[in-house]
Amino acid sequence: MTLQGKRILLIISGGIAAYKSLDLIRRLRERGAAVRPVMTAGAQAFVTPLAVGALAADKVFTELFSREDEQDVGHIRLARDCDLIVIAPATADLMAKMANGLADDLASTVLLATDKPVLAAPAMNPKMWSHAATRRNHATLVADGIRFIGPSSGEMAESGEKGEGRMAEPLDIAAAAEALLDTGPKPLAGRKAIVTSGPTHEPIDPVRYIANRSSGKQGHAIAAELARLGADVTLVSGPVTIPDPKGVVVIHVERAEEMRDAVLAALPADIAVMVAAVADWRVATAAGNKIKKKPGEAPPPLLLTENPDILKTVGHHAKRPKLVVGFAAETQNVAENGRSKLERKGADYILANDVSPHTGIMGGDRNTVKVIGKSGDEDWPEMDKQAVAERLGRLIASHFSG
Ligand SMILES: Cc1cc2nc3c(=O)[nH]c(=O)nc-3n(C[C@H](O)[C@H](O)[C@H](O)COP(=O)(O)O)c2cc1C
Repeated sequence: MTLQGKRILLIISGGIAAYKSLDLIRRLRERGAAVRPVMTAGAQAFVTPLAVGALAADKVFTELFSREDEQDVGHIRLARDCDLIVIAPATADLMAKMANGLADDLASTVLLATDKPVLAAPAMNPKMWSHAATRRNHATLVADGIRFIGPSSGEMAESGEKGEGRMAEPLDIAAAAEALLDTGPKPLAGRKAIVTSGPTHEPIDPVRYIANRSSGKQGHAIAAELARLGADVTLVSGPVTIPDPKGVVVIHVERAEEMRDAVLAALPADIAVMVAAVADWRVATAAGNKIKKKPGEAPPPLLLTENPDILKTVGHHAKRPKLVVGFAAETQNVAENGRSKLERKGADYILANDVSPHTGIMGGDRNTVKVIGKSGDEDWPEMDKQAVAERLGRLIASHFSG
């Protein structure tokens, strides 16, 4: 229950995405938060105060000029008796009011009167989001210290239109609220970490490439976890379909050589966790144009050449991080291959895993790792990749705690 005991004032404004705020209330409450809702008049055209109040198990505040509410809680108390204000959805209209200090209804007045952190999840038509006025308002609000999550790109609920303007998913908003309210220990504060994640794509020609089944789930979870523990994290990610983790600097690359260059450019660092499944080989000379299939001709041979070994390069670098962790994806002799990698690559730990197809690890949500260190091996039981990230985070933090 990561939001246990936290009080969140949820402002719902008048956008079609207001229906998602019902789910957001559940997500916040299942994490232990108390949710007190405020709805604009516009919001009430999309979802009813009855539904919002029932899910929040609290009174819904809608009126600024309510004698009853002013005597009871009042707009100033609403603005102050909370740990965080979340606006979801945040309409273009409410953003405009906030950016200009307007206070002509309960939501905008509370937002002007608060001294609490504010997290806004905008949702609007892509044309509204990209309009110069909204761009100006957004920039003003960022400068004012308002935190934003989203919007993301995709299909709009109301119109069949596509583009940037979809409200962030409730789970992501809840995670952003957790991150903002996270007062947990920061054992890695002041430490810099580089994490690699995902596969690499090695081109054969402009349209074809050699790849592997890595999803990036493990590396991304580790990057997010190190950031949660206070580290300043640079994530170098190969091509993946999962979203960038919050709170880390992400550098997107495609090929192993690009990944090596990005990692070396991010040095010096205190910690390197090399999780990416970097292709061992690339095509020696990728064709500049699409290789054509010609009737009667044999398939073209692919001459491979070795890719840079990024873990080994970092493990033996003049600016070697204090702690170097590598992952070893094996399908045979996991422990022996892992141990020999530990020495050859100059790592402090190798997290070896059996990625044979029957394990479902490559691309899946769970992982079973053997941690090979200089002073011995440890078998971690099967757990989800987030739990592996948390356990590795604790192991890394223990190296810097004394
Ligand atoms: C069907 C419909 C959908 C709307 N969806 C959005 C939306 O997604 N985002 C937005 O900023 N405004 C949207 N609007 C416009 C707002 O409802 C309008 O600007 C309203 O004044 C916002 O009031 P509020 O910010 O006080 O809630 C929509 C309007 C209608 C009629």
